[in-house]
Amino acid sequence: MPTPSDKASRFTESVIREMTRVALAHGAINLSQGFPDFPAPDEVKAAAMRAVADDVNQYAVTWGSPSLRTSIGEHMQRHYDVAVEPDRQVTVCCGSTEAMIATLLATVNPGDEVIVFEPYYENYGPDAILSGATPRYVRLHEPDWSIDPDELRAAVTPKTRALILNSPHNPTGKVFTRDELALVASVCQEHDLLAITDEIYEFIVYGEARHVPLCTLPGMADRTVTISSLSKSFSVTGWRVGWAIAPPHLAGAIRKVHDFLTVGAPAPLQEAAAFALRLPEAYFASLASHYDSRRQRCVGMLERCGFAPHVPAGAYYVMTDIREPLARARRRGTAVDVRDDVSAARWLASEVGVAAVPGSSFYRAGTGGRDCLRFCFCKKEETLAAAEERLFRMFLG
Ligand SMILES: Cc1ncc(COP(=O)(O)O)c(C=O)c1O
Repeated sequence: MPTPSDKASRFTESVIREMTRVALAHGAINLSQGFPDFPAPDEVKAAAMRAVADDVNQYAVTWGSPSLRTSIGEHMQRHYDVAVEPDRQVTVCCGSTEAMIATLLATVNPGDEVIVFEPYYENYGPDAILSGATPRYVRLHEPDWSIDPDELRAAVTPKTRALILNSPHNPTGKVFTRDELALVASVCQEHDLLAITDEIYEFIVYGEARHVPLCTLPGMADRTVTISSLSKSFSVTGWRVGWAIAPPHLAGAIRKVHDFLTVGAPAPLQEAAAFALRLPEAYFASLASHYDSRRQRCVGMLERCGFAPHVPAGAYYVMTDIREPLARARRRGTAVDVRDDVSAARWLASEVGVAAVPGSSFYRAGTGGRDCLRFCFCKKEETLAAAEERLFRMFLG
């Protein structure tokens, strides 16, 4: 019988996407997978419809339509004062998901090591395996998810080729400060590493936090691939439009890999993306403030139930310890059949009717997150209100 490949056998299916299926099976309110349940902006949808009607329906240039690549260049100039050459540096991909795997396949050799900060967005583990690389994990330490400089330096070996940095960070909501980025930059420069950054929550930051692209730090422009996407900034996770901005000496390799992986991202949606990135400043400010009120509501709801949430500085997730509310429910006589985060997530979905992601799915097997769940709050106020009602019924009774 034909069998799956060794590579495919070395990772499991996505726990995050599985939790969405569990939520559907139990009719639970889905605070697991990070996709909005409210409409995308009307003007962005209208731009997509216009492009389809205008017959932008054939393959775009494989590495991205000129209009979108130009718009990405303008976006980097406008928000970060970074000059990007659209013709030499930008590759438009099917979401940042494809941008990440295309970048790894184009820059890392089998046997190379790639540093990943842990907890981590679950795709990076399989991405490293698919590209033949070995991930080397460096812990982000609670409570502020900080990097220990000695641990980072100790993780570098002669085989280390690249480092993946996600900021604002999923699942913790950490936004790395300029000083922390300077540490990462100095390690990259000392050891001649490539930095691959996942910045898809670039416009979702709160309070005093500021998003600083790593490529803007001195000496980093030539050794950083900056990845972002339309998914989170414009609430269109199903459109699958993202991009990688690379120094010209690497962009050609990324473009070739991308071409043979997918040929191109959806052509009409690239035109809508070009339009979306040019929206006025007010759009981006309102996105963050829209999420800020939901952040406060989600953190408040979890605190009232006895959870110990980490307050995120960016992105739209809350990681929280779950022991106290479960103990409370038991004290009140509820049968809580929970041994770890995975059974806790299943119990919460089936018995309380709220779905969240087990914390361990953001760590290597057996190394962390067993007392944690991740809740997302990129949802309508009504959805959060319904989750609140169900959680309060169980934990406040
Ligand atoms: C950190 C991070 N990177 C990438 C993705 C996927 O992005 P895209 O829809 O652009 O492929 C997600 C989705 O939740 C994410 O949280």
